[in-house]
Amino acid sequence: MITFNKENKTFKLDTPSTSYVFGIEDDFGYLVHYYYGKKIKGDNVRYLAITDKNFLPCENKREKMTFMDCTAFEYSTKGVGDFRTPAISVKNEIGAAACEFAYVSHEIKKGKKTLCKLPSTFADENDCDVLEITLVDKCLDLRLVLVYGVFNDFDVITRSVRVENMGAKPVILDRVLSASLDLDQKEYELITLFGTWARERTIERKPLRHGYQGVASMRGITSAQEHPFLALVTPGTTQTQGEVYAMNFVYSGNFEAGVYLNQFSMPRMTMGINSETFEWKLNPTEVFESPETVMIYSSEGLGKMTRTFHDLYRNHLIRSPYKNKKRPILINNWEATYFDFNTEKLLSIAREAAKTGIEMLVMDDGWFGKRNDDNSSLGDWIVNEEKLPGGLKYLVDEVNKLGLKFGIWMEPEMVCPDSDLYRAHPDWAIAIPGREAGLCRNQYVLDITRAEVLEYVWNAIKNVMDSANIEYVKWDMNRPLADIASLSLPADRMGEFFHRYVLSVYELQRRLTDSYPELLLENCSSGGGRFDPGMLFFSPQIWCSDDTDAMERLHIQEGTAIVYPLSSMGAHVSDCPNHVLGRSTDFETRGHVALAGTFGYELDITKISEEERNMIPKQVEMYHKFNDLVREGDYYRLMSARENGYMDSWMVKSKDDNEVLVTYVSVVNRANEKPVRIFLQGLDPDKIYTNQETGESYGGDILMNAGIVAEKLWGDHKSRLVHFKVQ
Ligand code: DGJ
Repeated sequence: MITFNKENKTFKLDTPSTSYVFGIEDDFGYLVHYYYGKKIKGDNVRYLAITDKNFLPCENKREKMTFMDCTAFEYSTKGVGDFRTPAISVKNEIGAAACEFAYVSHEIKKGKKTLCKLPSTFADENDCDVLEITLVDKCLDLRLVLVYGVFNDFDVITRSVRVENMGAKPVILDRVLSASLDLDQKEYELITLFGTWARERTIERKPLRHGYQGVASMRGITSAQEHPFLALVTPGTTQTQGEVYAMNFVYSGNFEAGVYLNQFSMPRMTMGINSETFEWKLNPTEVFESPETVMIYSSEGLGKMTRTFHDLYRNHLIRSPYKNKKRPILINNWEATYFDFNTEKLLSIAREAAKTGIEMLVMDDGWFGKRNDDNSSLGDWIVNEEKLPGGLKYLVDEVNKLGLKFGIWMEPEMVCPDSDLYRAHPDWAIAIPGREAGLCRNQYVLDITRAEVLEYVWNAIKNVMDSANIEYVKWDMNRPLADIASLSLPADRMGEFFHRYVLSVYELQRRLTDSYPELLLENCSSGGGRFDPGMLFFSPQIWCSDDTDAMERLHIQEGTAIVYPLSSMGAHVSDCPNHVLGRSTDFETRGHVALAGTFGYELDITKISEEERNMIPKQVEMYHKFNDLVREGDYYRLMSARENGYMDSWMVKSKDDNEVLVTYVSVVNRANEKPVRIFLQGLDPDKIYTNQETGESYGGDILMNAGIVAEKLWGDHKSRLVHFKVQ
């Protein structure tokens, strides 16, 4: 709910358990932030403005700087005396960077539409109210609209901004972040997700120190290295207690996310497009729209924050018809064959897979041009008939005859120097004229900001889609962007490239999902290098990591699931010894870990042992039994092997509290230790839960407070599922 109190000029944004309050200060019309936290009844918290009233500029012009630098601003600006991290910076025609916005008007609306060209959350009028506040910088004749989405059922406030040039001269936007949040002087710790290829989204927690601490990407994608997520937590915060202020960015390109702790120990959290690699020329009458930041406050620890993200994304971000549906169990041939396959090999995998209950064959990299390794052919999306005689249609029809669906891999944004496409259009690859562009995996990135290149890529995708009954696409992206220049952009617009690139990726994925509405799209970027809410808007699932080792996956999936629903995490059972690490884990354990994601297989089913092959039908049954619960339920992190070194555990509970699935994985067995107790969370204390294997029944209160005793498992890397139901 959004209210505006005309008397004290205060806005109050209420979600079920939180309040967010700010108001208009001073005759000038500054928007000043007062409060964000646990829900409060009134709105008379103006006294919290971290502003010394003696310094209000209208009263005391001689101390404007002092006012600017100690006030909690709703949206901070650069160049007029606030020396902390600004949210916006605008240059005028002589190149001077300064802006300052005054309140003009506001509007409260019911329902939330998506942004124009960018992915964002959406909701109908019962679920969300929207506040749009218009401010103006009179010197620049620039209008700034702050947009807040306030959800009725979730503790979520979304933020984005629009900048409109009302003047007669162009301006240069050299920084437009989506959110800036000034918090109180409390002690905080900072949680971020760092990583690398095959080790994405590792949780890192550190004390907040004075100065700026942040994460960012300049790779053109969100990246495996940093992640557009940030949480400030009070010391001692656990899954179940403590205060959490979290931000996540609905964007798939260069971002920055950070906290500046100033001289008065007031943190300012900021999130938005990375200004290091951004500049935007805004001509008269033009409008710039920023991506959206999602803000969540939880006074009940990280677990509540996580479940809020999951619910929001499942209900108000992912649009695919698959979002509430079981996904077909797929078998992907990447780790099975790499580039060494042909129709017969794929059909032999499909035949064997069909016997086990697997539902879809996905043909990965290597089916087009002359691609027999990763040195050539990206861009030539013509089937290699030497490998696949009769083309895609023949293969797909044969797979369909076996009762399996068919899915395909593409990397549409790329071109190899050794490709017909590159030979015909060398200038389509991103490069700076006169400088040799760098390769990565022997490939260049296509300049899809150019209309003709985008059209070529779209037609290539469409031709593939129309050539056979393709029901799934894995959209890959395997290198960062560098050597940035576009032949279509004049010098004063070159700074727009990275954002325009992301807009073009969105345009292509929008066309794909609009043209083939039943398609199951899975995004991917060298594993999980573009796993972000922007991509989730288009694809209900994203390949989590190329590291399919079950033990490593525990950390990767824990870090991913802190923000993203289990239903979105691409997870497969792969062969052992694992292709990345050489580690062997039980087939059963691999199944339990993949069950916490989309679930599928990535192995040569014709080559694995008879014993393992025979286990697949049981795993398929397990998937069908539990997927509704895993996909739709509430996720609770119970133990973390990352923290304790020996045991990992999570549970999923149905929304009606009547069904619970606990998974535990004993990563390292320990001699002569008492069995581990696992304390369940979030159950109804008054309901009686029956263990579906043993028939034993316990009250929810007992399972939460006394816990369950984990079976002592012989050896390392062993796991168990414990399934409870209310009878
Ligand atoms: C990177 C992906 O993460 C892998 O799963 C696989 O599709 C390869 N690319 C293919 O080149």
